[in-house]
Amino acid sequence: MTPSDVKATLSFSDGSPSMELPIYKGSIGPDVIDIRKLYGQTGKFTYDPGFLSTASCNSTITYIDGDKGELLYRGYPIEQLAVNCDFLETCHLLLYGDLPNEAQKNDFTARVTNHTMVNEQMQFFLRGFRRDAHPMAIMTGLVGALSAFYHDSTDINNPQHREIAAIRLIAKMPTLVAMAFKYSMGQPYMYPRNNLSYASNFMRMMFATPCDEYVPNDVLVRAMDRIFILHADHEQNASTSTVRLCGSSGTNPFAAIAAGVACLWGPAHGGANEACLNMLEEIQRNGGVEKIGEFIKQVKDKNSSVKLMGFGHRVYKNYDPRAKLMRETCHEVLGALGLGNDPLFKLAMALEKIALEDEYFVARKLYPNVDFYSGIVQRAIGIPVSLFTAIFALARTVGWIAQLNEMIADPEYKIGRPRQLFVGAAKRDVKPIGQR
Ligand code: CMC
Repeated sequence: MTPSDVKATLSFSDGSPSMELPIYKGSIGPDVIDIRKLYGQTGKFTYDPGFLSTASCNSTITYIDGDKGELLYRGYPIEQLAVNCDFLETCHLLLYGDLPNEAQKNDFTARVTNHTMVNEQMQFFLRGFRRDAHPMAIMTGLVGALSAFYHDSTDINNPQHREIAAIRLIAKMPTLVAMAFKYSMGQPYMYPRNNLSYASNFMRMMFATPCDEYVPNDVLVRAMDRIFILHADHEQNASTSTVRLCGSSGTNPFAAIAAGVACLWGPAHGGANEACLNMLEEIQRNGGVEKIGEFIKQVKDKNSSVKLMGFGHRVYKNYDPRAKLMRETCHEVLGALGLGNDPLFKLAMALEKIALEDEYFVARKLYPNVDFYSGIVQRAIGIPVSLFTAIFALARTVGWIAQLNEMIADPEYKIGRPRQLFVGAAKRDVKPIGQR
């Protein structure tokens, strides 16, 4: 970390001695005030629920400028990666710090494809679930269960274990998501095909059956690959912070990633794409474009708790750059499938237009996020709505594991242990039950 010449001074109005706090400079983005010695010197904690002003770590992986609407993976703009690279190149970038050359790409692809199968026992584990179980419930279980199968990669302090766990997780997530889908359909699982690209293999495992081969459509494969790239990492969001916190106890990588999957499930995070499509379908059922005005009125009503899903972001206070790319992909996919007049897509466009012009959304800097479009694309590809978040988890796995490995390799890392402002009862005595 690069120290700044500027220092912060914290002073108190009760005459307690003031304290000088060091400041560190980021390579881009805001500087941070180092408060690590604050408690030792003043006996006080900082208070920041939701981490609105707190950098929980230093990182070299992903940078977001929310005001500009900019997203960089290891310095590369997401717009360039989405157009010039595929998902496995992006994984290499996130994990090892740079884009692979031809030989590195071939080697990395070979290493990933070597691990695409899961232990055959996994299918018996799956059978314990109800057929109508939510795929994210299944994924939370399956990913955690990987730690019971791969004992040679569970020591988080061993760099070789971390490396092989990273490769296994990236390789096996598509297989597990496709298995969860096939299980819900009552169809046989399709084994991976290692001569296919990462995205084609996933789509084949999803849509082929032993009696019908799946012929990949290039536009759809590219769209799926782009969904993976756009969701691969997003700095210290809720699920990534969960993975870091969980991993900070020294637990194995599979358990830490399972914690990330569980966190991602929430509708304010990865579950938003599912929630967004459900919202569009409900507006459509209740009258479609004609009823948008009424719906927006409910969203703006403080007492209604209705949100415009797929809009707003904790960090982006401008158009989410991923949403721009996904919007483009959405047009391509619907065009390729002859669904240009798809009523849900038209509804989404109308909703976006109205929301972007409405004072409520403008004043709060609420713009569409990636989930606003990714759901429409996935639905057009034939993916059921309940599987959307599992696909997000598949894509985000590389980001989680890159962030986890970065934390463990940092010599300054400590178990995460936030403190609190206690406002409950002070010490008191237990009374016998008859006197309470
Ligand atoms: N619809 C209506 N109002 C909204 C929305 C929305 N989607 N998002 C924020 N607001 C309002 C909110 O009510 C508040 O209004 P006021 O100032 O009058 O109280 C104001 O905007 C600020 O919102 P906030 O809740 O303080 O913002 P936040 O940074 O805590 O929340 C968010 C960010 C993503 C949780 C929220 O915008 C949201 O719930 N959006 C819908 C869910 C969604 O699409 N999530 C996906 C995020 S992108 C995928 C990912 O990275 O996981």
